[in-house]
Amino acid sequence: MNQTENPLCITFITGNQHKVKEAQGIFHQFNIQVEHIDLGYPEIQGELEDVARFGAEYAARRLGRPVIVEDAGLFIKALNWFPGTYSSYVQDTLGNEGILKLMKNVNDRYAEFRSVIGFATPKTEPKTFLGVVGGHIAHQEKGKYGFAYDPIFIPEKYDLTFGELTREKKNEFSHRRRSLERFAPWYKDFLVSEE
Ligand code: IMP
Repeated sequence: MNQTENPLCITFITGNQHKVKEAQGIFHQFNIQVEHIDLGYPEIQGELEDVARFGAEYAARRLGRPVIVEDAGLFIKALNWFPGTYSSYVQDTLGNEGILKLMKNVNDRYAEFRSVIGFATPKTEPKTFLGVVGGHIAHQEKGKYGFAYDPIFIPEKYDLTFGELTREKKNEFSHRRRSLERFAPWYKDFLVSEE
């Protein structure tokens, strides 16, 4: 299904299958279908918003249609909000064990996941939508669900890590839920204004 066959459809550019599955679950509640394309786009170094804006604009022009991309990260207060925009590199190098070592004997374990959706069309300026969920860093990895930092992140009001929550549960209030929840109604209005 693509955007010409079904107007309530959005093309999500990502190489991350976990993100696709989460986004499908969330968009389903807004009656929007997700078409996934693993296009690959240059990831500039910068704030999440800049990366999302640049990626969306690049992909929309390459594909000649509206797209979304997402840039996310884990921001830890006691580490001056590290790894933040370096989250991908840090996950691949230090990994969760490395983060737990950095957090050894640190009392203030506040952290947040941030997700920024970048939307662009070949003709319009890119727009971004931020979603944040607060929580804290666990003392050890826990859980078999989710991906990347999920086993070390305990969302606020929970005793369990994202790795211990099912996708459905994580989708109820995650950073991705919150960014997509802001994007979805805006996108529906946008489609109407384009008619
Ligand atoms: P990306 O650049 O948006 O793909 O994300 C930066 C890093 O954060 C990558 O290592 C991702 O795997 C990780 N990440 C992004 N979203 C999540 C999430 O929802 N849970 C756990 N890790 C995530």
